[in-house]
This record gives sequence, structure tokens and C-alpha cells, in this order.
Amino acid sequence: MTNLAIIGTQWGDEGKGKVVDLLAEGADMVVRFQGGNNAGHTLVVGDETYALHLVPSGILHEEKTCVIGSGVVVDPAVLLGEIDALVARGVRVSPENLRVSEKAHVILPYHKLLDEARESRAKDGKIGTTGRGIGPAYEDKASRCGLRLGDLRDLDYFRSRAAGALDEKNCLLAGLYGLPPVGLEQIMTLAAGWRERLAPYLCDAARLVQRASEEKKNVLFEGAQGVQLDIDHGTYPYVTSSNPGAGAVAVGAGLPPRELHAVVGLVKAYTSRVGEGPFPTELSDRTGETIRAVGREYGTTTGRPRRCGWLDAVVVRAAVRLCGIGLLAVTKLDVLAGLPELKIAVAYELDGRRIDHVPASLKDFSRVRPVYESFEGFAAGEVAGAGDYRSLPKAAKKYLAALCRSVGAEEGLVSVGPERSQTIVLRKFF
Ligand code: GDP
Ligand code: IMO
Ligand code: MG
Repeated sequence: MTNLAIIGTQWGDEGKGKVVDLLAEGADMVVRFQGGNNAGHTLVVGDETYALHLVPSGILHEEKTCVIGSGVVVDPAVLLGEIDALVARGVRVSPENLRVSEKAHVILPYHKLLDEARESRAKDGKIGTTGRGIGPAYEDKASRCGLRLGDLRDLDYFRSRAAGALDEKNCLLAGLYGLPPVGLEQIMTLAAGWRERLAPYLCDAARLVQRASEEKKNVLFEGAQGVQLDIDHGTYPYVTSSNPGAGAVAVGAGLPPRELHAVVGLVKAYTSRVGEGPFPTELSDRTGETIRAVGREYGTTTGRPRRCGWLDAVVVRAAVRLCGIGLLAVTKLDVLAGLPELKIAVAYELDGRRIDHVPASLKDFSRVRPVYESFEGFAAGEVAGAGDYRSLPKAAKKYLAALCRSVGAEEGLVSVGPERSQTIVLRKFF
């Protein structure tokens, strides 16, 4: 009955994986529609922790269908490794419950090499990418020299396309970066292995999603990254190469736009960012270090320490406006417990003027000064054990209410710990 998107409102790592895993209980299908294995989505169920990069976060509910849509860029080696690791842990993953779009583009070894070479060569212009070849793979898709998973079915065709692409890539790798060229046979050996194992998973994923929608099933769309990493609407150029916003659900999954019924915005109770780029509420002091330590803010994908800071409602507001977010899912509230005072940036000051939006110019965004509202803290232990909204400390409720008021959305869910059950669900999502 409901097609629901889960969207990161900040710079990623808001806890999308946890919330998708939880809400998947009520869904029939869970669909990834953009990004690639730059994503790292962590699920904690009992004593078990799962870090997923490509497989949708509904996979622990074995009777649900998980779909990787055409808007995702897929590194086949990573996907197969992830499937194998899940199966080794007793999770059922097979072409019966995991379907992959034949139109999804393939991340090839030269994409990773180019990503890494550019980053290591760049001095001031470094983006701080995950080094997974995401940008170069999306570039090839746009410049029409990419290879799609469905191309693996016809290895002669795959060979001719790969040979054409390699002409250019090897010029760059060898000529510009002084790296050894990538051989066609090396690519074809990999392709033959991938074809063997991946062919049974490939399908017309858009049609699968459309049929589920026509049959009035509940479909959950799992965003990766966050709106400030959106290539159109984020802090360009310090962004990823896809659109993590809700608009990409239609394109990347093949769902008619009017059939997306609701958008839930994932908000971490503070802000974190991995990689380079401006971050107005960043805390480079003891409080920032405390948040990083308590929140275990180290990347799921690269292990890098995440930069941490106060909650930025201007950033969340931008996502609410862009994506039509009605409900917020606020995560990691427990991490703030014990801090004597909490702050939310409700606006910025730029050249003596108060503004309520994220300026398009990166130069301006680097100069804004947050306008904070201060809140009383709450004690450690009071939040993590809270089973329902009423039992949350008064100060925590005030903090959440101020966020909702400032961004113009309502509370849908509050997460107070990494485990699936450490969640206060305030609304019916399906
Ligand atoms: P995603 O990329 O948006 O799925 O988020 P990540 O999985 O990269 O990062 C979120 C991290 O916080 C993971 O390690 C989660 O297990 C953890 N987490 C999620 N919700 C909560 C919460 O409410 N409290 C705490 N303490 N940890 C949480
Ligand atoms: P999830 O889905 C946080 C960041 C990188 C870098 C920029 C570009 O787990 O929230 P890329 O490799 O995409 O070209 O890197 O985007 N980035 C993420 N940051 N969470 C993610 O995903 C991210 N995916 C990419 O750190 O700054
Ligand atoms: Mg993550």
C-alpha cells in the first residue's frame, strides 16, 4: 500500500541501515536506488553486527525481496563477497530474495585506480572519496562508455566495449598518473567469473518494483549517503557522484514519481562528516572528541574518523524542503547523554545577515557562522533504556521538539541505541 523512502538528511551515516532493517519488518520489498559500495550501513541484531555496502538492509528478513536498482553502481567482486559473507553467517541470500538490475553499471578495476590516483595526486582539491571508484563509474555512465551488468551475458559484446573504454583509461593511467596499464584479458577473466555467479540474480528490476507497486505491496527505498552529498543539491564539489535525495528514487529504481507516497528523513542527533568540505557546526574540541568516542564515529567503509559537531537544523531543513520529508527518524540520541549543554544551529549568519538556508556558493558556506539555540543536557542512562517516548527525559523531548519545529517536520521515530530493539516508534510507517 505504501512506497516509502528513507533518506539521509546530513552528510551520510545517519543510521539509515538500522532504520531500514527495523522498518523492513512491515515491507514486502527493500530497494537500493543510488550510490554503490561507498555506502556502509550497519545493522545490529542481538549480539550480531552486519556491515552492508551493496546488499539492501532488508536482507536479514529472509522472506522479503531485496533489489539493487539500475541507479546503483555495482562492484561485482564486492557484491559477491558480501553475499558470501552473509551466507557464511547463516543468512539466506539467493536469487530468490536478492534481485539485481541488469541495467546497473559495473565498477571496473580502472575506476578504482583512477579514483585513488586522482585523490593521491590532488593537493588542495582532494575530495576525500572512499576510493571505491564511484565517481569514475558514474562518469563513464554519463559519457556513455560504461558497462552494465546485463552486458556480462554477452562476453563478446562486453569485450568490445571494455576494449574501447580501456584505450582511453590506459592513456590516463599510464600517461597522466604513471601507473601500469590495465590489460583487457585481466578484465575478461574477471568478467567471466562474475557472469557465472551473477547471471542468476540479474533481472528487469524496474519492472519488479513497478509490479510490486501495482500490486499494492509495501516497498521501502533505502537511500545511501545524504542530501549534503548530493551531486546537484549538496556542498559541491565535496559530494558524491549520485543523487541521494528522494528525487532519485523514481530514476534509480524505475518507480513512477507520483507513486512515492512518503519520505522519512534520517537525522543523527548531532552532525558528522567524513572526507573534506565545509562543516559549519564542526567541533574541533573536547566535546567533538567525546561525541566521536561515545558515538563510535569511525567509517563503516573506510574506518576513517568522522568529523563531529552540533546538530545543524539548516542542513536538515534543506533536506526536508528538497525531499518533501514529513517524518523524521532521529538516531543516536543516547550519544548526547551526559553533555551538560546541547546546541542546535537554527540559522546562519553571513556578512551580518541571518539566513535560514545553505548557500549555494561553497565560499559563502565556508564563511557562515551558526546561530545556535542552547538546550539543557540529559543524564547518561536516562535515554538508552527508554522504552517509550513518555519515559524519555524532559530535556531530550525539548531538544527533539525544537529540531522538528525548526525544520518543519514531525517526529516519526527515535533511536536510542544501535540494536534493532533500541528504538521508539511513534508513527505507523506502513
Ligand atoms: P548509515 O550509513 O546511515 O546506515 O549509518 P552507519 O551504519 O554508517 O553509521 C551509523 C552507526 O551508528 C552504526 O554503527 C550504527 O550501528 C550506529 N547506530 C545507529 N543508531 C544508533 C543509535 O540510536 N545509537 C547508537 N549509539 N548507535 C546507533
Ligand atoms: P552512507 O550510505 C558518509 C563521502 C566520502 C567523500 C564523498 C565522495 O554510509 O551514509 P565517493 O567515494 O562517494 O566519491 O566520496 O562522499 N561519502 C560518504 N560519507 N557516508 C556515506 O555513505 C558516504 N558515501 C560517500 O567520504 O567525502
Ligand atoms: Mg554509513
